[in-house]
Amino acid sequence: MLPKRRLGKAGPQVGCIGYGAMVLEGYYGPSDDDQSVETIRSALDAGMNMLDSADAYGNGHNEELIGRAIANRREHAFVCTKFGIVFDESEPATEVPTGWGFSLHINGKPAYVRKALDASLRRLHTDVIDLWYAHYPDPSTPIEDTVDAMAEGVAAGKVRYLGLSNVTADQVRRAHSVHPVAAVQYEYSLWRREIETTLLPTLNELGIALVPWSPLGGGFLTGTVTQLEKDDFRQNNPKYAGEGLTANLDRFAPLLDLARQLGATPSQLALAWLLHQGEAIVPIPGTRRPERIDENAKAADLALDSDTLIQIDRLAPVGLAEGATLL
Ligand SMILES: NC(=O)c1ccc[n+]([C@@H]2O[C@H](COP(=O)([O-])OP(=O)(O)OC[C@H]3O[C@@H](n4cnc5c(N)ncnc54)[C@H](OP(=O)(O)O)[C@@H]3O)[C@@H](O)[C@H]2O)c1
Repeated sequence: MLPKRRLGKAGPQVGCIGYGAMVLEGYYGPSDDDQSVETIRSALDAGMNMLDSADAYGNGHNEELIGRAIANRREHAFVCTKFGIVFDESEPATEVPTGWGFSLHINGKPAYVRKALDASLRRLHTDVIDLWYAHYPDPSTPIEDTVDAMAEGVAAGKVRYLGLSNVTADQVRRAHSVHPVAAVQYEYSLWRREIETTLLPTLNELGIALVPWSPLGGGFLTGTVTQLEKDDFRQNNPKYAGEGLTANLDRFAPLLDLARQLGATPSQLALAWLLHQGEAIVPIPGTRRPERIDENAKAADLALDSDTLIQIDRLAPVGLAEGATLL
């Protein structure tokens, strides 16, 4: 069974690798609901019990899938979801531009926070969310107000732990002073390492876990993505488009060779490297395929010695990837 890691100083223990369910909503290619439920259950069987969803994924559909998958096995799952991205045009929200050519609409106001919690609980068919994240900070609401409203969910027994996503170190400090934050989610992988100097030191200081999103670079670091279908959401990501993709395939090829030399798959190397970056790091790789769950879980068995870690630093330094980031 997968080893466990603790979320924060006194937080709960979860499998050291979790499962990211966003990929089940067709963003990176088609998916099928029955197979999706099977994949989520395979993740639970492998000990990847931290299931990561958001009310934004599939506009609620993803939470319903998780709800289906955990029926009769709620106690084996550590259910995580997020709120704050608004699709309903009648709902007030603040526009937040991204580096990927589209804007998000964010609402972190207390009245919306309360409404979002009850809607997520309904879709998940559960009476408690284990870890509930603010998906993005709302630029027009002080983060203290958002977290204060989230803490009402904890006081009411509807939420166990609070999390933040896509925040700065300063926002983490401010939020954590209102209510303890157990985990922060941010993009972190061998092709997005910037948080090593910006956010991660603050999380370590405060005893907050890091949950790296897109730990496989959205699939790029697995070495299996060399071109994308027209409707693939990753086309929005300049790292995956045109010359950016060509440059990145070239720049990251030595990592694929290194994985081969280590007797690992590229996916296992990318995940093992993350696990070596700190004791309170729990990556959440996504896959639509049950057969890839065990491959990803076995990354926990891949020990990287200090020479290998130095070699990886040389092969994939901060800023190696070509193309703008989401934020
Ligand atoms: N907080 C945020 O703002 C935010 C943003 C993005 C993502 N997330 C979270 O992070 C999770 C993971 O991120 P992600 O889905 O963007 O990217 P990811 O986990 O880095 O990569 C997922 C992709 O990798 C492929 N893959 C997985 N295992 C593989 C293997 N062993 N061999 C070959 N290919 C493999 C999958 O393809 P197949 O399906 O074909 O296997 C999928 O296309 C999401 O599900 C979501 O929960 C959060």
